[in-house]
Amino acid sequence: MEKILLINGSPRGAASNTRKATQAFLDEMNRFGEYEVEEIICSQANISACKGCLTCLKNESGTCCIQDDMAQYIQKYVAADILIWSFPNFIFGVPSDCKKFMDRLLPINYPQLEKTDAQHTKHPKRYTLHYKKVFVFCSCGFYNIDANMDAIKKQFEILYGDLCDVILIPEGQLLSNRFLQWRTADVFASLRQAGASYAKTQTIPSELLQSISKPAMDIDSYLRYIDASTVTRTAAMTDEEYRLEKVRAFFRSLVLTYDPSVLAVPNSVLEIQILDIPYEIQLILTNTDCTLIEDKSQFEQFRLKVVSNFAFFAGRPQLTETTNNTSKQPDLNKLIFLVNKFEKAGVRKTMRFS
Ligand SMILES: Cc1cc2nc3c(=O)[nH]c(=O)nc-3n(C[C@H](O)[C@H](O)[C@H](O)COP(=O)(O)O)c2cc1C
Repeated sequence: MEKILLINGSPRGAASNTRKATQAFLDEMNRFGEYEVEEIICSQANISACKGCLTCLKNESGTCCIQDDMAQYIQKYVAADILIWSFPNFIFGVPSDCKKFMDRLLPINYPQLEKTDAQHTKHPKRYTLHYKKVFVFCSCGFYNIDANMDAIKKQFEILYGDLCDVILIPEGQLLSNRFLQWRTADVFASLRQAGASYAKTQTIPSELLQSISKPAMDIDSYLRYIDASTVTRTAAMTDEEYRLEKVRAFFRSLVLTYDPSVLAVPNSVLEIQILDIPYEIQLILTNTDCTLIEDKSQFEQFRLKVVSNFAFFAGRPQLTETTNNTSKQPDLNKLIFLVNKFEKAGVRKTMRFS
């Protein structure tokens, strides 16, 4: 069984967008191979920043002057067959907790310098390093990789050379959005295929790596999504007003997650009334898009009453029949299509109808 050391460099730990992508890769790898995975979450580990004293290079045993958990992590790093680095892009580079881990690996080196070729240098290694493959997963918030992830790619290529596949994922914010699973499905499918490919053949075709790096959303939609989901709390805002703004942002971005492919009955209207704050909207669902109407109701069909926690995935919506549109009886099938749409978008776990 091969040992994988997973170095999770996101300050968001288990909630990390990047970590979710890494997990999809690992899941398939594990399905087709036998691996033992150990994870270090840098932000939760007891690791101090390197002091730059070079004590570790100067003393014979390579012992660092800092007494924390890094000595035991170095042993794990040295013994691993596969290294996986998983972290977000922070200001075009590696986040600080992750960089701390990286810097504290200095004791694996001897102080001498060796020429690798005419221009390049490295330290000879104090330990026999076991790893034969290194994967780097890095997600970022922008839609572009060029002029954003270049330094990260270069840094790991210098560190590990040909042993390393650097897997860059743009539009990272989408990776954790359950409502957008249909948008990110291709990226996750490519990640899973890459994991399977490595387990079976010890290689990953370059086309597959490229497909992971393809933005899940086109640029304009992504910009609209980021804009729609952003809430800024002003100093004058009360808690209630801020809550309302968060609910509004939720529905604004929900509209952008609309997947027309599952709507069998065009031009449906879903009216949603939030019970505990003054907010009522209509979603006009057509074959091509979904429009959010926040002002006065124009149509009435199906009314979904929800508590505002719904916006944060914890509500228990109640479905009630339309009150003033007696000409049209509620059509259960139509309703089921709408509900399916929201289920497909990921609301399933929290929506209950009564
Ligand atoms: C301090 C900070 C700096 C960031 N810098 C960049 C950046 O330079 N380029 C970019 O595309 N995204 C940047 N982002 C966005 C993150 O890379 C993005 O949200 C990522 O998906 C977060 O991943 P995580 O959940 O794994 O931590 C930054 C985020 C933070 C908090």
